[in-house]
This record gives sequence, structure tokens and C-alpha cells, in this order.
Amino acid sequence: MDIHAAAASPAVIRRSDYRVPDWLVPDVTLDFDLDPALTTVRAKLAVARNGGHDRPLRLDGDGLVPLEVKVDGRSLTQAEWHLEAGALILPLPGAAHEVETLVELAPERNSKLMGLYASGGLLCTQCEAEGFRRITFFPDRPDILSRYSVRMAADKACFPILLANGDPVEQGDGEDGRHWAIWNDPYPKPCYLFALVAGDLSCNRDRFVTMSGRDVQLGIWVKDADLPRTTHAMEALKNSMAWDERVYGREYDLNVFNIVAVADFNFGAMENKGLNIFNSRYILADPDTATDIDYDGVEGVVAHEYFHNWSGNRVTCRDWFQLSLKEGFTVFRDQNFSADMGSHAVKRIEDVRILRAGQFPEDSGPLAHPVRPESYMEISNFYTATIYNKGAELIRMMALMLGPERFHAGTDLYFDRHDGQAATCEDFVRAMEDGGNIDLTQFRLWYEQAGTPRVRALLSHDAATGRVNLVLSQIIPPTPGQPEKRPMAIPIRVALFDRESRANHGDETLMLTRSEQRFTFQNVATAPVLSINRGFSAPVIVDTNRSQADLAFLSAHDDDPFARYEAMQQLMVNVLVGQIGGQPVDESAVVDAVRQTLIDPALDSAFVAEAIRLPSEAYLGDQMPIVDPDAIHDARDALQHRIGAELEPLWRDMHARLRANSFSLSPAAKGARKLRNAALHYLVASGAADGPLTAFEQFDSADNMTERQAALGILANGESPERIAAVDIFYNRYCADALTLDKWFQTQAFALHPDTVDLVEKLGRHKDFTLNNPNRVRALYGAFSGNQWAFHHRSGKGYRLVADCILALDPINPQTAARLVPPLGRWKRFDAQRAALMQAQLQRILSQPGLSKDVMEQVRKSLD
Ligand code: PHE
Ligand code: ZN
Repeated sequence: MDIHAAAASPAVIRRSDYRVPDWLVPDVTLDFDLDPALTTVRAKLAVARNGGHDRPLRLDGDGLVPLEVKVDGRSLTQAEWHLEAGALILPLPGAAHEVETLVELAPERNSKLMGLYASGGLLCTQCEAEGFRRITFFPDRPDILSRYSVRMAADKACFPILLANGDPVEQGDGEDGRHWAIWNDPYPKPCYLFALVAGDLSCNRDRFVTMSGRDVQLGIWVKDADLPRTTHAMEALKNSMAWDERVYGREYDLNVFNIVAVADFNFGAMENKGLNIFNSRYILADPDTATDIDYDGVEGVVAHEYFHNWSGNRVTCRDWFQLSLKEGFTVFRDQNFSADMGSHAVKRIEDVRILRAGQFPEDSGPLAHPVRPESYMEISNFYTATIYNKGAELIRMMALMLGPERFHAGTDLYFDRHDGQAATCEDFVRAMEDGGNIDLTQFRLWYEQAGTPRVRALLSHDAATGRVNLVLSQIIPPTPGQPEKRPMAIPIRVALFDRESRANHGDETLMLTRSEQRFTFQNVATAPVLSINRGFSAPVIVDTNRSQADLAFLSAHDDDPFARYEAMQQLMVNVLVGQIGGQPVDESAVVDAVRQTLIDPALDSAFVAEAIRLPSEAYLGDQMPIVDPDAIHDARDALQHRIGAELEPLWRDMHARLRANSFSLSPAAKGARKLRNAALHYLVASGAADGPLTAFEQFDSADNMTERQAALGILANGESPERIAAVDIFYNRYCADALTLDKWFQTQAFALHPDTVDLVEKLGRHKDFTLNNPNRVRALYGAFSGNQWAFHHRSGKGYRLVADCILALDPINPQTAARLVPPLGRWKRFDAQRAALMQAQLQRILSQPGLSKDVMEQVRKSLD
């Protein structure tokens, strides 16, 4: 076989190829002799033949060399085993054996941050999805559930704290300044949930008494200096534990629950059994360095990882095609938790904005895949907005169709039936059917078909009969590998409003199940206004024939907060898209709606701030057949200016009135900050001469990062001496704190400024920029590639910068490199010149020898 051809074609793994494991591993004993330069791992696996076959034992390995292999205590000769694609193959005669292996690792040289690695003086692990095979030889698949006993030894001065999954059993001192600890996890788990941490850590300790009276010791472990920044995370943890008991009847099951924060981490956090490991950005928060969004992020991610203890750990995934089984459901759970902790209306608006910004583009591009994919080359590429956020929407639709009681009957049945098992998405749906008494046959298509459905709604009214006809139709666009689609079951919540009395004729959930369907409403005297997809009941794009006047009506009177927000957004989209397309629509409706919203005393500040915000440049791009980044920017900028100028006294007044007195995290205080920032934004957009100075004053005098960073961002969009001063002051004040310095990079990369692309190039060479820290990479290049106007600079410079970064990062950290590819893959949505420039960069990446599987898969698919 040609070696180059093999490297160029990573194997495709298919869902249909699933087979039960040949061998099970009921028990595992691991012995780590830890050292950053040279760690040894001795593993003893109790293996049991699964079924009648004579296939050898295959233990996955990635970069491992077996220094010793023993079976039932006897050392094997080199002739008795062999390696195949990194895996250790052992022919075994009997039904059950003990297999022992010894390997060496160099954690300090592990820059991929998968397996055992060093981060800021700590040693820690990351195993999901396939990192355990970088630690020891093992059948690395989630349907192998084992009981783990772990012994760790390390230098006591450098690594005084030794943590692993489960409960601590024993510890002691050894020779030469070393010490050791043993931890036991009584719950059988897949190896992707294995974790250990060694380091010099301090602990925020607390406790939680569960509903059955179990006393759980809670610990959040961080660098000593960071201890004061862990209080919010601890509150969130205790609230999550109480919430899962109250809402799902799920109780924590070990005596200890530990969380560790690390500075270098590929994703947000990891739900390892009893030992969650977090990207420090989702643990550490204080008013001086964390924005309200950061605080909410901490709360949401702490909850997410905690909730995985049931939705993910107690019930895990049979194979990685079922990833959304744990992720979609757990996102749904954390969304509802956060809504309960704050505002349901605002949380829903934020979640839909995230879905539209991250998942809709994925679903309409070359990387579109179903919530339950059929194939992959590299599973790390499938930790996507589709698996997570669209997956959560699927659970939400089922919850809506069932109603709260039957939904919880379904989830109870799911947990009871599958506790201790590795389950499938199908198992979840069946539990909903059986527990909730519903037929979800057609609904299953949501797991199978990719692409965002488009629902068209045409409303007509017959004054003579008092009858309203609503014709709904659906189109599911073709996606890679799925040219034709079947109609799906789509729950659409609607209401009809009387124009005069503003009364709601009644809320209804319509089930759209065919390509086209007619729904009739009786006794409606005058032509009503249609409110549709209320609460964003289905993750679809809705096209309606509603007039600007109807949208204005809804933006002032709809009693569903999401629909009210949505009407306002649509009003704005219509104006902007009309403008860009050369068919101007009267802007005054937008200005009036913004004014109405601002002065409505019944609305809370957080909602107002969401409602008056213009749709993002990227969202506007998504509404156009061919994205014109410059025209979008100009039109949006002009409308912003007009809203700013026409309502200037209101902005001024609000900005002064909403000045916070002292920092608080109450919903009212958070809402006030959000609205105050919006007011500053429009005030500066108005062009008022004192705009930059006002922004600088806010920047300078803020007692919290929410107002400080917003002011910096507003200044960074413009050209003023205050801009230069604020950027400098921010750097000097925060350059020693990595998470806050990330904000400095990110804010500049997000700036809607004509020079952003050059600035980003410069920042990539800044002494504080490093490719070794994923947060830093995302702060600069991740933010930049999400800045439509800057990234799509007509020169193509933006594409080259991101491609350069991908090429430089791939040998260091392929997972993080691969996640920078999707923005380049959206070339079909742009004009011919830009498309060619983007394709050229993708080609350039592809021609790099030795490309990782991660980047290769994303680039290849992006070129199709
Ligand atoms: N399972 C983690 C979560 O969603 C995400 C993750 C995946 C973290 C892979 C690290 C590696 O909670
Ligand atoms: Zn998760």
C-alpha cells in the first residue's frame, strides 16, 4: 500500500458498522508514577471474552510503546503480541484473563492537550473522546464500562494534591520526597470519563446534603491566588445539585465531588466522574475581571458538567454517533436551569441567538451533519453546534409535544431503564414514547436529516365567514450526502392577535407533518395578526407574508417575549436587507419600534436591551443569497447611526440614569448594565461629539468588567484618542491575568473597524500571543473569523491570516486548529472573488504534508 495515499485518506467510521465489543473489561487497576518529563503507567485489566468468537484482544493505543506485556502474571515475548495502527493485539486463549502493560509518557511534551498533559505546573488528563488511548493500552470505546482503582505517586513538594475519580481510599509518603494516593470509583464507567490531577492546588471547600441525606464534600481546586474567584462557581454547583433533585429527581451518588480549573484546555469543561476538569474561564470570576456573560457562562457550564453525572455518566453513549444523547439532553437541562436561575425570556432569546449564529450556518454549509451523524473521520470534529444546540432543540420539541408531566415520565423511564448502561438516541426516543405515551415515528427524522427546515406561513382571512386559513409548508434543503428530504414533524406554536383590542385569540401548538398543510380558525371577525413559532418552538426558519405594520404591532404587543423580540428583529432585517438589495424600506418603523420599546414601563431592562439590538452582520449575511460584507456593514452602520441620532436624548438619559451604584449580580442589576451598554453604543453611533469621551469615562470609572469591556469595544469600533488610551490602559492593567488579557485580544479582533485585519496580523506577533493556549488562539483568531466584515476583507488578507494560523497550530494542537476551518469553508455564500480566495487558502492548507486527520477532514469537506 502506498503510504502517502493512506495518510491522505483517513479511514471513515460508520454508524452502521457498530458491533458489540469482542472483549469486556470489568475491572481496571492503574498505577501512575507521575513526573512531567517521564511518567510511567502500569495498567492491569481484567478482560472477559464477550460471546463465542476467537478474535484476539485489541487494545487501542496512540503513540504508546509497550515496555512490558503480561498475561496472567507471565511476561510475553515480543513474538506473542504485535502493534497494528498503534493498537496492541494479543491473542488470548481463555474466557477471562488479567492483562498487564507498562508504558512511558512525557506529559510536558503533550501539546495536543489530549491524554496526560502539563498545564501551568499541574498534571491533568483529558480523555474524551479518544484520549485514554494516549495514556494506556485499552479498548477505547464508550460501551466498555469498567470499575477503576487508581494509584498515583508524585513528588510531594511539586504535586502535594493528588486527585482522581470517585472517592479517596488511602494515602501515604514514600521515599525521596514522593507521596502517593489511591482513589476508587465504584461506578463502572467508560474510559473517556477517567481523570486524574496532580499539582499544587488550593481548595474552596463546601458541602451539600442530598435529598436522601448523603453528605457530599465539594471542592473547587485552583491556584491559591485564584481562590477568591471561585465563589460563583461554588454557588452554581450547589444550585445545580438542588435543581437536579427538584426537577429530575436525580441525586449525586459519591461522597466527594471535585472540580479543578486548568489554564490550557481544548473545550469548555469535562464531566469526568466525580472529578470535573474545567477550562479556568468557566470557573474563575470576580467583578473586576468577569463580565455578566462570563458569570452566566460559569453558572451554565458548572451546571452542564454536573448534570452529566446522570445524563452522560450514569447513562452513557454506546458509540460516538450517539454523542447528542448526552450533549443535546444536557444542554437542554443546563438551559432550563439557567432560565430558572434568571429570566426565562432573556435566556431563550440568547439561546436562539447562539443557535442561529453557530448552528444555522453549519447546517447550511459543507459541514452540515445530522444530530446523529452517519459517519466521521475524526470524532473531535463532531463536538458541534448541531450535536449540542440543535440536539437540545430536539429534546425541547419533545418536551413541548408531551407537556411537562409526560416529559418527566419519559425522562424517569429513560434513567430507570438505562442506568448503568451505554445507550443510544433511539433508546431515549423510545423512553419518551413509552413513558410519555406518544408516537414519535416521524419525529425521529430530526435525528436523521440535516439542514434547517424552512417553514412558509400564509395567513388569509375571510371577513364574510369569520374564518382564518393558515397554510404552512415546509422545505428541508439538501445537505451533503442527503439530496432529498422527507417532511418532518414540526411543532409550531401560533397565536392570532386582534388588531384593535390587542387580544390574543388563543395559543396553539400546530403539528406540521406534511409538505403543506392547512389549519383553520373560526370566529375571527377582523383580519388578525399572526404570531408564529412562539418561544422558538421549532429550530426552523419561518417565512411569512406579514407586513412591516404587523411586525411593528407584534413588537409592541405580542405577549410571548420571544415572539415580540423576533418581530422587532424581523422588522430590522427587512429594512436592512431591503436597503442592501437596493429596495429601500421605510426605516422610521424601526426607529419608532425602538422608541416604543425604550419607553414601555412594563418591560425589564434585559429584555429591552435584547430587543433594540440590531441583528448582527453575520445574521444579515445569512438572509442574503450572496453575502456582501461591505454593503451589510454600511447599511447596518447607517441604521445604527440613525437610531442613535433620532433618539439621542433618550440614550443620553438612559446612560446617565442606569449608572450602577454598587456591583450586584441580581437580574435587575445585570439588566441595567446590559441596557446601559446598549445606550452607550447608540449614543456613540449617533455621532455626538462627546460620544468617545462618555465611553472613555465609563471605561475608566466602571466598577465591573461588563461596563469596562463594553466601553472598550465601543471605542475600538471607532477612531479617537480615547480608543488608543483605553486599549493601552486595559493592557497595562490586566496583562498579568491570562483570562482578562484574552479579552484585550478578543475585543480588538471583534472591532468593526476598517483596520482590524491589519491589527490582528500585528497582534498575532504580540509577545503575549501564543499558539500553545487554546483560549488565546480563540480570543484572537476565533473572534476574528467571526467578525464578518473584517475576516472577509476583499483583499483576502483575513483568509490568509487564519490559514497561516491553522498551518502553524496543526502540529501543536490539531483539535483547536480544526475548529478554525469552518469559516473558510463558507465560500459558496460569497462573491466569486472572495470564494476563489477562500478556496485557495483551503487548497494551501491541504497541500501541507503531514496534516492531522482533524484538519484534513474539515478542509476536504469544506472544498467539496
Ligand atoms: N464533554 C464535554 C462537555 O460537553 C466537552 C468536551 C469534549 C470536553 C471533548 C473536552 C473534550 O461537557
Ligand atoms: Zn457536555
